[in-house]
Amino acid sequence: MAILRIPDEDRVLTEVEVIRDHLAKSGIWYENWPVEGRCGPDASADEILASYAPEIQELNARGGYITADVIDVTPEVPGLQAMLDRFNKEHTHAEDEVRFIVKGSGVFHIHPDDAPVYAIEVREGDLINVPAGTKHWFDLCADRCIRAIRLFREKAGWTPVYTESTIASGYQPLCMGPSYLRGNTFRIQPAITVA
Ligand SMILES: [Fe+2]
Repeated sequence: MAILRIPDEDRVLTEVEVIRDHLAKSGIWYENWPVEGRCGPDASADEILASYAPEIQELNARGGYITADVIDVTPEVPGLQAMLDRFNKEHTHAEDEVRFIVKGSGVFHIHPDDAPVYAIEVREGDLINVPAGTKHWFDLCADRCIRAIRLFREKAGWTPVYTESTIASGYQPLCMGPSYLRGNTFRIQPAITVA
């Protein structure tokens, strides 16, 4: 289940419907797909795509996506930091950034034109679509692990177009972690710190 933070207003949103409504103002789709009874998060890419085929087909029809794949990011990936550094600065894409999180977690910061920056932390079961042209940046959480289904119209459209803004450096890439949702004690995890 996702967590949405609005640092400039010192607000944290945790209710699915409230998060969905907030994201909708930016044209972002947010869904939480049931993962019970599906293949495990460590299944093969083909098994994962087959397991979530009904939802993928629905999204394809809705967004005009034509291909899907599964991206695996772990701390062992060669050149991981260089890869992360491509996406942790404010940028846009020529096409939607659609991700369904199978394993791990990450934080998208969204920079609306007419509202404060907010951070949406996504994890297993979360589907998010950051529309083409939306200013945003992305960080992994401290475990440096994420596995996600990606949907594309054209893979070339996913190349980042940088705004050259330094706004991202003004926001701490923090991950609240699942314990936050359980209430009581929780620990805020720093996301990946980059040079
Ligand atoms: Fe992006």
